Amino acid sequence: MRKKMISGIKPTAQLTLGNYIGALRPFVLSQEEYDVNVFIANLHCITMPIDPEELETNLKDVLLFYLASGLDPKRSNIFLQSDIPEIAQLGFIMSCLTPMGELNRMTQFKDKKDTGMSLSGGFYTYPTLMTADIVIHQADLVPVGEDQKQHVELARNTAERFNNRFGETFVIPEPVIAKVGSKIMSLQDPTKKMSKSDKEGEKGVVYLKDDLKVARKKIMSAVTDSLGVVKYDVENQPGIANLLTIYAALKNISIKEAEAQFVDVQYGTFKKAVADVVCDELEMLHEGYDKFAQGGFVDDVLRQGADKMRPGAQAMLDKVQKAMGLDWK
Ligand code: AMP
Ligand code: TRP
Repeated sequence: MRKKMISGIKPTAQLTLGNYIGALRPFVLSQEEYDVNVFIANLHCITMPIDPEELETNLKDVLLFYLASGLDPKRSNIFLQSDIPEIAQLGFIMSCLTPMGELNRMTQFKDKKDTGMSLSGGFYTYPTLMTADIVIHQADLVPVGEDQKQHVELARNTAERFNNRFGETFVIPEPVIAKVGSKIMSLQDPTKKMSKSDKEGEKGVVYLKDDLKVARKKIMSAVTDSLGVVKYDVENQPGIANLLTIYAALKNISIKEAEAQFVDVQYGTFKKAVADVVCDELEMLHEGYDKFAQGGFVDDVLRQGADKMRPGAQAMLDKVQKAMGLDWK
């Protein structure tokens, strides 16, 4: 039987090249081998304040970029997290099985807490909802970027804890991290992740919606170094290493193969080659986005996705409630 894969993206802000290389593209490539299920994590999105109109726009955008990237609704299930209310219900149950000590150790939580901003209870229990997202569908594999690995590991621990206490119920999921591109860095500060919520770092972030000229300019002005050799050396040449990663990931080659193509090549020429592959990919995405935006079948995709996924989620929640003694039937 094909292994079951699940993953999601939060419709928080405009999707970036990091999201594409670390998540969207691996989802699409997985369709050859796995039973692929992807969703739009709209509940995770409200763990931080967000304007309703912005959320609605981003939500449609994530779906259109899923389709434009090549996710095929005939082969894969694409759905909206909140269309399956059993997920939030199981999320509460999972939060009761997760020690606060484990939640306190999550780096995403710690990083935000350290900024001193006021955080919601929902943000704190973010990883327990993510656990429910994964285990309710009995998923074997969870492809994510490096930053989400710790959350998938928490989901594994919680599923194991449940099975030990209440009997074999959940499949234990495994995180899958792309060999190349699991952490694309900012073009302006290559020691920091390229992040869609990086408001100050617009120049360091390529958005999937960026005009090709704008994207090209961002790549051409990416921070490099004065060493003048195109080599993968994260410590001493983080900017060049990041550009090599972007190039290798989009070309589907190894970093070594990418390096070999740029021996004795000047930074300007190298950057142009990176900008060319990025712009080709963006052009393909923009064409797909426009085509699907006009197609008018976006609602159908989400409805069908939820219709296919919900019965399994309901059965799983029933099983959990019975195992825990919550059910009176
Ligand atoms: P998010 O934008 O946090 O909803 O992330 C959606 C998916 O994209 C997750 O699997 C992330 O790990 C992945 N992702 C986000 N930013 C990057 C990045 N800079 N490089 C690689 N993967 C990323
Ligand atoms: N937390 C993930 C992110 O920020 C999105 C997400 C929510 C997710 N639920 C998930 C990813 C379940 C994989 C599986 O990127």
